[in-house]
Amino acid sequence: MIQDVTVVILAGGQGTRMKSRMAKVLHRAGGKALVEHAIDTALEVAPANRVFVVVGHQADAVRAVASAAGVGSIHQKEQLGTGHAVMCGEDQLIGLGGTLVVLNGDCPMIRPETVRQLVDLYRETGSGAAMITTDLDDPTGYGRIIREPNGDVLAIVEHKAATPEQLHVREINAGFYCFNAAAFWKHVHELRTDNPAGEYYLTDMVAILLSAGHRVTALKIADSSELLGINNRVELAAVDKIMRDRKVRQLMLDGVTIERPETVTIDKDVQVGQDSILGPFTQLTGKTIVGENCKIGASCVLENAVIGDEVEIFPFSMVSASTVESKAHIGPFARIRMGAHLEEGAHIGNFVELKKTKLGRGSKSMHFAYLGDSTIGSKVNIGAGTITCNYDGKKKHQTHIGDGAFVGSNSTLVAPLEIGAGAYIAAGSAITHKVPEKTLAIGRARQVVKEGWAPKE
Ligand code: UD1
Ligand code: CA
Repeated sequence: MIQDVTVVILAGGQGTRMKSRMAKVLHRAGGKALVEHAIDTALEVAPANRVFVVVGHQADAVRAVASAAGVGSIHQKEQLGTGHAVMCGEDQLIGLGGTLVVLNGDCPMIRPETVRQLVDLYRETGSGAAMITTDLDDPTGYGRIIREPNGDVLAIVEHKAATPEQLHVREINAGFYCFNAAAFWKHVHELRTDNPAGEYYLTDMVAILLSAGHRVTALKIADSSELLGINNRVELAAVDKIMRDRKVRQLMLDGVTIERPETVTIDKDVQVGQDSILGPFTQLTGKTIVGENCKIGASCVLENAVIGDEVEIFPFSMVSASTVESKAHIGPFARIRMGAHLEEGAHIGNFVELKKTKLGRGSKSMHFAYLGDSTIGSKVNIGAGTITCNYDGKKKHQTHIGDGAFVGSNSTLVAPLEIGAGAYIAAGSAITHKVPEKTLAIGRARQVVKEGWAPKE
């Protein structure tokens, strides 16, 4: 982090080429909104109170992302161009002085090291402005870097404004800039809209600062992959793929086995411990944390799940916003959701759903069950087909089951309900009243056998 650096992230545009009702920077790649990636990078470069996101299109939604990340915002009411976007922050930013870094909000692959390198170059050369450039085989759509015969940067010319000769230039402006803040604010009002788009182009600051006698330098990057800008959904998918490939590769290098790595989907912030094995088509999203020596079977989906060590999740199971302690087993075909909590060594089998339910140490529910709004003690056995009837049509009610209880198959537990420790529920019961400790509750009609009832042959 560099103390006197201010970062402005440009995120006010609609992103017409996305053909979306949602602002471009809210579209997601690698499991995060594009603007979140830019904020992550900014926070590695500058202190949070010097990071600002320019919001315009869908301002409230974009601002919400900024404030959730602890950074500020600048309101751009009308989208009159990238130069205008920064100008809108004049009142908030001018007093901060120092160095002004501007990042395009639609270029989520940039690494913080590269931005720091840009700041270093700007400082070492005493420049008024510096920007990141690269050579592209297909520079269509990008601003071109125009240089003097001696190599000095002269200007950035936007694609739309370029002459046929300038369109042949393969060196492009990547959308990352570093300015001397004092010089920037002194000259920013010299920006004009006399271009084909009728916008205030931030890129024109290069020519303006040069003519004011400042030096302008460029940091040319050989690997252009981190500079990719997203303008449409094809580019969004391409960047998403690169991010996910990187994540998977990093996890494998850190000691996680991933079977058929090209098939899995793992978000940027997910953590997986050493020697865990992820099966094909697994999806680990949000802030999911998986411990060490776990086996996550094929096609499992874990969303904001916290999984301990040595947990085994069999194929086609889903765990969302829930905690699973060490040595638990889940699935196949299980669903654990909304703050469910499996304590150590608990077992959940096929076609079992847990919602807002705590299942104690070593307890088991192995086949077909719905356990909702319940606290279940340790060493409890929940028989096949057990249902907690937690909803009376208006309200949800709680079920409490004590340690060591045995719930027979196909029991219907009508909440609110308490089943004491060590109690037995006979198979097929509908239980509507409290069951005291160590008792047997039978809630069904007694079997009747009618001798000779069948017609004679
Ligand atoms: C911009 C650069 C171009 C560069 C390219 C790199 C300008 C004029 N051109 O072009 O030289 O090669 O990025 O990707 O800067 N935005 C606002 N308010 C506005 C307009 C845009 O906040 O009024 C934001 C957008 O949300 C976006 C970013 O600025 O995140 C860039 O805008 P965009 O329209 O995509 O610029 P490009 O045409 O790609
Ligand atoms: Ca762009």
